[in-house]
Amino acid sequence: MKKEKLLDLLNQMTLEEKVGQLIQVAGETFLMDDVDTTTGPLKDLNLSNEMLYNVGSILNVVGSEKIRKIQDEYLSKNRLKIPLLFMADVINGYRTVFPIPIAQGCSWSQKVVHDCTRVSIKEAGAAGTNVNFSPMVDLVRDSRWGRVMESVGGEDPYLGEVFAKTMIEAYQGEDISKLGNAAACVKHFAAYGAGEGGRDYNTVDMSEKEFRQYYLPAYQSAIREGAEMIMTSFNTINGIPATVNQWLLRDVLRKELGFQGVVISDYSAIEETINHGVSKDKKEAAYKAIMAGVDIDMMSSVYANNLKELVEEGKVPEEVLNESVLRVLTLKNKLGLFENPYGNTDEEREKKILKSKENLEEARRLSAETFVLLKNEKQTLPLEKNKKIALIGPYGNNIAILGSWSMFSDKSKIQTLKEVLEEKIGSENVLYAKGSEILREKEMNQILSADGGNIIHIENEEEKEKAYLEEAIEVAKQSDVIVLAIGEHYRQSGEACSRANIEISQIQQNLLNELAKLNKTIVTILFNGRPLVLKDIAEKTDALLEVWFPGTEGANAIIDVIFGEVNPSGKLTMSFPQATGQCPIYYNHYNTGRPHINNIRFASRYQDIPTDSYYPFGYGLSYSKFEYSDLKISSKKISQKAPITISVKVKNNSNLAGKEVIQLYIQDLVASNVRPVKELKGFKKVYFEAFEEKEITFEITIDMLKFWNEKLEYKAESGEFKVFVGTNARDTKELKFELI
Ligand code: GLC
Repeated sequence: MKKEKLLDLLNQMTLEEKVGQLIQVAGETFLMDDVDTTTGPLKDLNLSNEMLYNVGSILNVVGSEKIRKIQDEYLSKNRLKIPLLFMADVINGYRTVFPIPIAQGCSWSQKVVHDCTRVSIKEAGAAGTNVNFSPMVDLVRDSRWGRVMESVGGEDPYLGEVFAKTMIEAYQGEDISKLGNAAACVKHFAAYGAGEGGRDYNTVDMSEKEFRQYYLPAYQSAIREGAEMIMTSFNTINGIPATVNQWLLRDVLRKELGFQGVVISDYSAIEETINHGVSKDKKEAAYKAIMAGVDIDMMSSVYANNLKELVEEGKVPEEVLNESVLRVLTLKNKLGLFENPYGNTDEEREKKILKSKENLEEARRLSAETFVLLKNEKQTLPLEKNKKIALIGPYGNNIAILGSWSMFSDKSKIQTLKEVLEEKIGSENVLYAKGSEILREKEMNQILSADGGNIIHIENEEEKEKAYLEEAIEVAKQSDVIVLAIGEHYRQSGEACSRANIEISQIQQNLLNELAKLNKTIVTILFNGRPLVLKDIAEKTDALLEVWFPGTEGANAIIDVIFGEVNPSGKLTMSFPQATGQCPIYYNHYNTGRPHINNIRFASRYQDIPTDSYYPFGYGLSYSKFEYSDLKISSKKISQKAPITISVKVKNNSNLAGKEVIQLYIQDLVASNVRPVKELKGFKKVYFEAFEEKEITFEITIDMLKFWNEKLEYKAESGEFKVFVGTNARDTKELKFELI
């Protein structure tokens, strides 16, 4: 529809109809047989029946049949035939589930992230999703926060920028109305990952300089790539909740970044400004949010019950309302919904494409690229096939390996590690024992009891633990090698899953401690959504493979890697701490005036643990052996006009082909403001044949040297720099150069 037509449509709309477009309700609202707004979830929304058929969008209803049914019924009752928008949380896959976003980022491959995203949105689009609440590009530094599992860029702003761009392009393509594409909603704007203490929804307070340097770039990259929607975050930013923060939403997002798309609040975040203490009631919350530029109120009744009155009283200029409504109508128009209210969904296509064989094969291939090999003593891995394997641990025969955002997944026929291992080496060579639960009853109920969830009771828990352990020891004694599958419960990471202790559960640690006494080779496979404190595990295991929550084909991918069909190539995008008390920890930190070197006493350190991370940012091993040499620089001096080139030789000094992520870091040695000891400025994931050597080059540009100073100017300052190239943020070769 032409823009003029949209304006005509807007002019025909009543005030109720305009307000309606800015309301999002839960999808099940329309799935009730007799949609009754006076009872159940609708009652809280206090929506009249007539108002219900004016709402602009619904949340988390998927499936061609349902969507067509709802759209038909809605349009039959909507006066101006303005179609509904269907929005959903397809975070790491729809029916076919891919590795969780932090894992995808650990591939350090734009292609892997792109392909996971493409298949996810093709499936979700076939099922009728118009807008996907992804990518989550919040920069994260504190592993106590459960939502680090969703961050595709981890602790680095550059990775965040790269993968934000990749995902927007993969979701939206050239035209969001085309088959296989959808609108992307980048989130959570902004700096949601910086909540104090790693506690979800908690306060965020930082200088504007830090915000611009670290937290803003990834959102900016998504907007530059054309993200159609952005979601405001639950947290405050410098004393004002993001959802009513005029500086953030009007000055930065609209004016400075030029964002013209739709702004949606996070779930009831507008109403929550009352809890924050910045709105005295729902009416003031509605006023502050619409004036800050929030277009859609997700799942609260604040706009529905107050906006009309605010406009009638003249407190909210109708023009402000019209701008929001027009942005929503424009998005619907871009999606082609006026011409085709069902989008690209149809049942035949849905049946054909969902969890298809090709998608599963993709998932298996991509999942293997996200694993990070953390330890491999004496080349324990890859395993030979003629071994008798004791498969032990609560993830040995468990399909709950999809992560916490897999609500649309098809769990049927997800294979467990046990099933795939038996297929691989024959069931006669697999000795299985559960070994332990993931959590004890008390720990599990700390999770389940929230929101009045059904708590569990484990009858004779201690006896069971003892029996599990004895069985595991028995099985292990008969084996050549132990494969231990342990990790976090999937409800331990994700939204509202902050933890004050990020170690593996005691019963799983006990299991490993007992198995370690047998002096057999142990390969530990780790299923988790966040960096954990791994010292006590790593020291008792010969090989340690981080698989995160690897998705539908995770078990197959794990077997492919541990038997060497695939050579692991993942690298960490978050530092793993020595202890929970070390959080937040990140590689691109400032040096301080008393860096902890040469074991001096009066230094910035903890007395009881080492100062460095246990595993550094960018770390990950391979079955190949990569050696770096011959770091060269094309000139010791760089100027505004002439960039310089860095080259390094990398050799795969092994008989196994593999991929290496060569990383480029820079340090500004002296500047007007303190600068990080290292900043990632480039990376290349390169394939090497056995014994192959390649020369890898990077260009250093002035842009890479710029930073936000105390006057909020973004510029480079002359002086000395270091450039580092290496296999992670710690193990690098370095040279100096000067900006003149
Ligand atoms: C949740 C999450 C957000 C999600 C939204 C809709 O609270 O914070 O990431 O997209 O609600 O489910």
